[in-house]
This record gives sequence, structure tokens and C-alpha cells, in this order.
Amino acid sequence: MNKVDVLLGLQWGDEGKGKIVDVVTPNYDIIARFQGGPNAGHTLIFDDKKYVLHTIPSGIFRDNTINVIGNGVVIDPIIIKDEIDKLEAIGIDVTSKLLISKKAHLIVPTHKILDKYSEEQKGKNKIGSTLKGIGPTYMDKTGRNGLRMGDSLSANFKDKYTALKEKHQAILGDYDYAELLAELETKWFEAMEFMSKFTLIDSEHYINNALKNGQTVLAEGAQGTMLDVDFGTYPFVTSSNTITAGTCTGLGVAPNRIGEVIGIFKAYCTRVGSGPFPSELDNEVGENIREIGHEYGATTGRDRRCGWIDLPALKYAIMVNGATQLSMMKADVLDSFEEIQVCTHYEIDGEKFDYFPYDINSLNVTPVYESVKGWNKDLTGMRDMKDAPQAFLDYISYLERELQTPISIVSVGPDREQTIIRK
Ligand code: GDP
Ligand code: IMO
Ligand code: MG
Repeated sequence: MNKVDVLLGLQWGDEGKGKIVDVVTPNYDIIARFQGGPNAGHTLIFDDKKYVLHTIPSGIFRDNTINVIGNGVVIDPIIIKDEIDKLEAIGIDVTSKLLISKKAHLIVPTHKILDKYSEEQKGKNKIGSTLKGIGPTYMDKTGRNGLRMGDSLSANFKDKYTALKEKHQAILGDYDYAELLAELETKWFEAMEFMSKFTLIDSEHYINNALKNGQTVLAEGAQGTMLDVDFGTYPFVTSSNTITAGTCTGLGVAPNRIGEVIGIFKAYCTRVGSGPFPSELDNEVGENIREIGHEYGATTGRDRRCGWIDLPALKYAIMVNGATQLSMMKADVLDSFEEIQVCTHYEIDGEKFDYFPYDINSLNVTPVYESVKGWNKDLTGMRDMKDAPQAFLDYISYLERELQTPISIVSVGPDREQTIIRK
């Protein structure tokens, strides 16, 4: 029986997951999302065109691949309809290539309003949520109040929706939302109607049968390990398990059915939203990286905070995910740097730490850096590692030694073609 390979982010999201899933899709029969929702923004660039996906797996542009939205994902029908409209407009037959789990939970309009309300209540302690309703929807899932895709097939769907909405309205009290709700509700029901043409499946049976029949499956993560609800920088995290274990619960595959785990990271580091980021560069260097790397959110357009690569955080992420190989992204962004800094440790109250501490939100953490020579060469045209400058090869070897995991994919630009698969 085949195993499910997993591709996921090792940092705070936006590592370039969408790009690499698209690149490796020809090796797979099925691409499956297992958690998160439209808080994700996965960018793909090919034939000089850019596409951003939020809910739909990044295998959708390739022929002969089925894309599955698993039970662990939360779906906003308004957003997914918009994604599908855009794909259909360029001739992609989404209906025949997309299958959705009956057990995936629905984001209803009042979830989005609650997200906004909750962030306003938190004031300066806000999470910096994408405001897509993710937190409130997962709260209703674990609180056993949620509405699922499969409920749309039942005769009392509208009643279930109304019961959930009224529960939310009791929390919202006299918060000003009536106009927004009316507008969203009309669109939401139209979008639900539109979604009725899609096949709803029991994704756990579908995936396990596919494995039994010799098909190949890749699970596509959203967000990143440091945003995991258990292992990220809580409370500045998202509301799902973004790590490998999330594949098991989000698709219904057993732990012994996990194959390769490809961890993705940038040659530096970014974060969008609030929360600790020890190697952040709140200065000109950080701004420089943001500008060269176009580090602006694919979902919200917000500036991404930029900093140097953080080895303690990466080692931690590799450990909790069981990453078997790595994909290093956006190396080209550092092309013009004479020197690159690598955070090897943290200093807390005069003591050195090489792991991510529990109380990082309240501790005074100073990153300790090692300086590495830059390669000072344009890498964007490189298609073979034999053309790589020695300083770049040295950077890769250094990281492989530190992280004890092979870097099997190197990305030197946003385009599908700007990718090197290492032997
Ligand atoms: P995801 O959420 O992990 O799929 O990543 P995003 O799409 O949110 O952000 C990654 C950004 O970097 C996108 O704008 C990509 O087009 C871009 N990108 C991906 N790989 C590379 C690379 O190797 N070099 C450069 N310069 N940009 C890249
Ligand atoms: P992809 O899949 C980067 C961040 C938000 C916020 C926190 C909680 O594109 O890598 P939420 O909307 O989940 O309540 O927000 O998580 N966040 C992301 N940051 N990439 C993402 O997804 C993210 N999804 C959520 O900015 O700090
Ligand atoms: Mg993104």
C-alpha cells in the first residue's frame, strides 16, 4: 500500500508551498489539503501569469490530478466560489477535478463577524488574524456546534444554519453588524447553491482506497509550523494543527501511512500578523528583504515582517514534523547580500538556548548570529546546481549540517521553472 507524502511550511507561513506543490504535482495522482482555510494564500506563477489559491489545492492547474479538500479544512463558500469562477474563466474544468469532504466545516457569515469582533476586543493584544472566520469556525467544530459541507444535503440545512447564526448573535449583542451580515448572507446562500454541483466525498475512504489501489497522494499544508495551535507561538497562532500530524486527522490517514515529509523554508524568515519573531529585522535590512522578496501578504496584502533565518525554530519544526527532506525557497532574494546572518542560538538572561523556549512571548530573547559569506551572484537563471557559486553551495551544506536533513529542492525565483530538484 502506498503512503501519503506531505509538504508543509516550517516557519510562519508563506514559505512558497503553493509553488512547490505545483512543481511536484506531475508526480502525484491526488493533491489534498488537510487543514486551514481561506486564511491561506498560495501563489503559483507560470507562463508569465500569477494565480493565488486560498482553499483549492495547488494541483488544480495540472491535467490528470484530482484535488481533494479534506475534513480538516474549513470552507467559506463565498471565497471558494470566487476561486472557482476565476479558474473556470481560464478554461480549467474544476468540477471534474475537485472533490470535497462532507465533513469539512463551513465558515458562515457570522464566523467572520465574530473574528472581527474578537480582534477588536483584544485591542493591542490582537492576533493579527486574516479575519476570514478561521478561529470561530474551529471553535464551533470543537464545541460541537459546527455546520459541515454534508449538512447542505439535508432537508433541515437552513434550520441548522439559523440555529448557529442565533448562537453567534447572542454573543455579538449590540455590536454593529446588521448591514454586513445581510450583504454576506445573500452571497453565502448563492455560493452554497453554486457549490451543490461539486461531488462531496468521505475523504478518509477516498484517500485510503486510492493508496490501496497504488495511487500517489501529496498532502498540502497551509500556514506553517510556528503557527500550529499546539506547537506554534501560542496564542499568536492559527486554530488548526499545521504539522504532519494534522494530515492524519485532516484526511483520515493513519500515522504509519505517512511517507516523505518535505519541509519548506525560506533562505531567510518572514511573519505576518502579531507575535514573537526573535530574528526579526525591524530596520533597513528587513525593509530591503521585503522589497526584493515582494514580502506582502497574498491574502491580506499586509507587509510581512522580515528577518534572518532562525535555526532553533527550524530544528524544532523539523523535529515535530519528522521532516525527511527540505525545500529551500527564495534564495535569490539574498543574491545581493555580501554577508548573510544565521541565527544559531538565543540568549535569554545571559544564557544560551538552541531551542524554542515555552515562554517566548514574555521573555527577553536576543538572537545570536553567525555570519556566512554571501554568493553575490544572480541565481534567478540557474537551473542546475553545477552552475551554483561555491558560496551558495557552502550555505546549503552549512544548513544541511545544522539541520541534519537533506535540502532536496532549491528555489531561485517565483516561476515554476525557477526550481532545482537535487539528486
Ligand atoms: P505559500 O503560502 O507558502 O504558498 O507562499 P505565498 O504564495 O504566500 O508566498 C510566497 C511568495 O514568494 C509568492 O509571492 C511566490 O510567488 C514567491 N516565491 C516563491 N518561491 C520563490 C523564490 O524562490 N524566489 C522568489 N523571489 N519568490 C518566490
Ligand atoms: P499560508 O498558507 C502566513 C497568520 C495570520 C495571523 C495568524 C492567525 O499562505 O502560508 P487566522 O486568520 O488563522 O486567524 O490568523 O496566522 N496566518 C498566516 N500567515 N501565511 C498563512 O497562510 C497564514 N494564515 C494565517 O497573519 O498572524
Ligand atoms: Mg501564503
